[in-house]
Amino acid sequence: ATKKLVVLGSVNADHILQVESFPRPGETVSGHGYRVVPGGKGANQAVAAGRLGADVSLIACVGDDDFGKRMINAFVKDGVQTGAVTTIPNTPTGIAIIYVDANGENSIGISAEANAHLLPELVEPHLSLLNSAHTLLMQLETPLITVEIMAKAAHLANKVVILNPAPARPLPDSLLANVTIITPNETETEILTGITVKTEEDAHKAANVFHAKGVDKVVITLGAGGAFVSDESGTRIITGFTVSPTDTTAAGDVFNGALATALLENKTMNDAVLFAHAAAAISVTRLGAQPSIPTRKEVEDFFVKE
Ligand code: RIB
Ligand code: NA
Repeated sequence: ATKKLVVLGSVNADHILQVESFPRPGETVSGHGYRVVPGGKGANQAVAAGRLGADVSLIACVGDDDFGKRMINAFVKDGVQTGAVTTIPNTPTGIAIIYVDANGENSIGISAEANAHLLPELVEPHLSLLNSAHTLLMQLETPLITVEIMAKAAHLANKVVILNPAPARPLPDSLLANVTIITPNETETEILTGITVKTEEDAHKAANVFHAKGVDKVVITLGAGGAFVSDESGTRIITGFTVSPTDTTAAGDVFNGALATALLENKTMNDAVLFAHAAAAISVTRLGAQPSIPTRKEVEDFFVKE
């Protein structure tokens, strides 16, 4: 039987504007390519898993606006089960205001809106989803208390708990103790371990801080530098693919959704990270969060070309 994935997290309407360079305080810049596209870290990770072929359910909240309705239909088309997506009355769907510059870098402001309603009492009726699941994947764009409770429940039930600790914030040790695989970038690693990751040795030290707090496997994403992995097989850097960036928004989300998908297929950690690198690389060449997420076929074709 296919192993099931549950993703818990945010849904956002991403308002994107492409600019030559980011506006500085007091400055107005002219942009182009304004559009509103599906985003939010939880939704992006679930959609990545869905397009890549995982059996995935999303636990999330949307608003009772047009965008929320549109999202539920879009999830279904992308193979994401929406039985645990709750529509919050009189509330807008979460939003992100995103500038993308000429280098493909972004600058993002978010407002939680409906995502703030993803509280323990709302999630409780969906706890049974965990029973039949193998892996729970979460991020930090929804209330932390719910992430803590879900991690605990999943860990107690011997499920794999993957935490992508984004956006960056300090976390209690009690949460980390229930995490099987943590996937921070360099900034998040520094905030969580106090170690600035400049060298492989730094990454090794930071991974040991996570291990000491009870995290089994550590995957530190290094942007263009690939990923540093520390698990029962030891430590190594798994190099990524070089692409010319259009928009790096959601690259981390695609990486996480793809990593979870590949691990559920019993790929080794090395192969799963490579698969995730490929999916993320494709997404970086395209504009927008969910519009940039590749299908399974696109990732497989990418490997043939490489
Ligand atoms: O990780 C990318 C996501 O972060 C965007 O889709 C935006 O919604 C913000 O939440
Ligand atoms: Na992209």
